[in-house]
Amino acid sequence: MDKLAQKIEADGANDKSCYIKTFGCQMNVYDSQRMAEALVEAGYRAVDTPDDADMIILNTCHIRERAAEKVYHELGRLRPLKQRNRNIVIGVAGCVAQAEGAEIISRAPMVDMVFGPQTFQQLPAMLDEVTQTRSQGRKARLVRTEFPAAEKFAALTQVPRKPITRSPSAYVTVQEGCDKFCTFCVVPYTRGEEVSRAAPEIIAEAKGLAEQGVCEITLLGQNVNAWQDRDSGQRLAGLLDDLAEIEGLHRLRFTTSHPRDMDAALIAAHGQNEKLMPYLHLPVQAGSDKILKAMNRKHTAAEYIALCKEFRAVRPDLALSSDFIIGFPGETDEDFAATMALVEEVNYAQSYSFKYSPRPGTPAAEDENQVDEAVKAARLQTIQGLISAQQTAFNDAQLGRVLPILFDKPSKHAGQITGRSPYLQPVHVTVPEGQDAEAVFAAVRGRILPVEITRTHRNSLSGQFSDAL
Ligand code: SAH
Ligand code: SF4
Ligand code: F3S
Repeated sequence: MDKLAQKIEADGANDKSCYIKTFGCQMNVYDSQRMAEALVEAGYRAVDTPDDADMIILNTCHIRERAAEKVYHELGRLRPLKQRNRNIVIGVAGCVAQAEGAEIISRAPMVDMVFGPQTFQQLPAMLDEVTQTRSQGRKARLVRTEFPAAEKFAALTQVPRKPITRSPSAYVTVQEGCDKFCTFCVVPYTRGEEVSRAAPEIIAEAKGLAEQGVCEITLLGQNVNAWQDRDSGQRLAGLLDDLAEIEGLHRLRFTTSHPRDMDAALIAAHGQNEKLMPYLHLPVQAGSDKILKAMNRKHTAAEYIALCKEFRAVRPDLALSSDFIIGFPGETDEDFAATMALVEEVNYAQSYSFKYSPRPGTPAAEDENQVDEAVKAARLQTIQGLISAQQTAFNDAQLGRVLPILFDKPSKHAGQITGRSPYLQPVHVTVPEGQDAEAVFAAVRGRILPVEITRTHRNSLSGQFSDAL
């Protein structure tokens, strides 16, 4: 869940309020921010809880099982609010909305509008329609699930980014959708085909963010390394070079990449573009060629390992991360052993692993050779043990180093402030005795300062300010 309210500077004149709850990937987080910004333009304030909100949006994710049930469960929790105040507008957005469409309104009549990831730019117009329909004594039931990604991008450029009060690190979506059709995945159905945003639009958004104090940008796309400017043919490495020129931007990241879309220039950029951070999320999903083929990943385990080596040749300290699907249909003990061997060989800084979850409408869900849940669970535990050991080793290797840390968010822990290392590790710094953590954070927010790492943990590092960088 995302505390949107803190991110948007409320306009004092806006008397209506909106609450957006976000599920799923960073692309949904970005979309929620943009929805909130569009709503602020339309006269709303963004708030932190649904309790007194005039408009509530659930921005949903459909990637793994029970996604739709979770949404109905959330809607059930909102029912008392709607019963108390019938004027509330409730919207279901995102990938479940795209997949379920009108079904949502028939199962949950309290919902006024259902709209997919490519249609939220129509939000202000949809709101007008809801108000108008209600004024005629009827109930609005809007369903918008087309795929006008180009229209979405155009709209993103029209609504300027609002000053971000919370974080000097921002997302910018540069690419939408997916044409890969991995046999387990719903994304090509929920987000539509691959569309790239034009370079000038991206540069303009990045410049605007930098002027508002953002110093780190993460470019987003389901296949971000497939990004290509329609007019110039420019690829991601070139875009990253242009972004590196923007004054005030100090760190660049991008996610998520597909191994098949990597080009030589993007690999080389990791040794040349000094603002590009040494962290790469490059999901492989499995280490068995038989399974990779059945997944339609279009590469072998050896090709992936060779790619990782090319990256490490230009950037030896690169932190690599991946996603793994465990118990894909037909996965035998040997196939799983091949995945374990790949993890051993690549040696990740961190990784995500999930039990395979059959998704309605995807080819793998129809496969008769589904793996037993208990087997999936046991294999998941095994791989997570290895991933966790690798992560711990990667973190331990930072002990005693002085790292440049970007302080981006206040810490959840009293007396501490938190930032991020170049490798994306959270780094906690205890503020000197007698000093107020909030005041220290306010002073260092958005700055990159040298921190000596004095302790390491599985998921984070601890350290103290150092002058020795
Ligand atoms: N575009 C990215 C990933 C998008 S989805 C890529 O190609 O890697 C994020 C992750 O969710 C995937 O990498 C995959 O590991 C996981 N995932 C997708 N569908 C899944 C399913 N049916 N069951 C389990 N995990 C799944
Ligand atoms: Fe899904 Fe595969 Fe596309 Fe990634 S590349 S979004 S896993 S279909
Ligand atoms: Fe989920 Fe849609 Fe993202 S299914 S992972 S929110 S693209």
